[in-house]
Amino acid sequence: MTDTDVNADQREFWNGGPVKGWVAQDAELESVHGALTPRLLAHADPKPDADVIDVGCGSGAVSQAFAEAAPSGSVTGIDISVPMLNLARVNHGDSVTFIEADAQTYDFAAESADLIVSRFGVMFFSDPVAAFSNLLGALRPGGRLVMGCWAPMPKNPWFDGPRRVVEAHHGPQPRPEPGAPGPMGFSNPDYVLSILNDAGFVNARVETEDLTLTHPQGASGAAQLMSAVGPISKIVRETGGGSTELLHLTDSLTEIFKAFEDEDGFALPAQIHFYLAEKAA
Ligand SMILES: C[S@@+](CC[C@H](N)C(=O)[O-])C[C@H]1O[C@@H](n2cnc3c(N)ncnc32)[C@H](O)[C@@H]1O
Repeated sequence: MTDTDVNADQREFWNGGPVKGWVAQDAELESVHGALTPRLLAHADPKPDADVIDVGCGSGAVSQAFAEAAPSGSVTGIDISVPMLNLARVNHGDSVTFIEADAQTYDFAAESADLIVSRFGVMFFSDPVAAFSNLLGALRPGGRLVMGCWAPMPKNPWFDGPRRVVEAHHGPQPRPEPGAPGPMGFSNPDYVLSILNDAGFVNARVETEDLTLTHPQGASGAAQLMSAVGPISKIVRETGGGSTELLHLTDSLTEIFKAFEDEDGFALPAQIHFYLAEKAA
């Protein structure tokens, strides 16, 4: 298998039409997912001179946060998505080096990083043990890995709400195989910890946290955003539904999200697994 064959389906997806659309909504998505960044920083606790790699860096907000936390170190963001990287370079290119490459196979400089971090960018590898073995090679002895991944869907209405809407309108949908590449691919800690151990990391562990997601326009803004970027617009596209159908499903999602809105605002519960591991010193 050549390098370009590895994760070819993921490369196609993350460079495809829907992702180009997500780039237009990047700031809004960041207002939701940004809730993780302070927790990722707290777990990673980078030294000011840390050399950091951000895996699946997307449009680079997490890379930027680490560049600010490690001002005399360096941050390298790696991703396979050209549209995301283009935006990352525009917004954060002064403080972060961005590389277009597959983190599973990229020839990182050996033992060049103190810290490998990721927010939702590590659940898409076709061969996770190979990918994490490769990442281990980039860490200095004693270097650390910190990554935030979604816990199972029922704990995350941000994903479970759209799934319920799609199934209510279009019937049961196929469920991905446990561990299959995708947003929920690392939702089972036993599976992920075995990957990290098999890849050669030591002291692999998980800290599961309940967080709150929000959106500046509340339940209705969150529903419109998730409809546009998630499975609702996908099923409408695939089934040839038009804008009226999209609006109808978005209204259903708004109703679900409104259960998390009151006079104090919109507070969507989320559960995140923070996986931590080290390279032997
Ligand atoms: C859900 S997005 C998360 C982006 C970013 N970390 C964030 O939190 O906004 C997942 C990212 O992982 C990237 N990705 C998927 N497979 C990859 C791989 N094998 N190597 C590098 N990046 C990958 C995608 O292109 C995408 O930008």
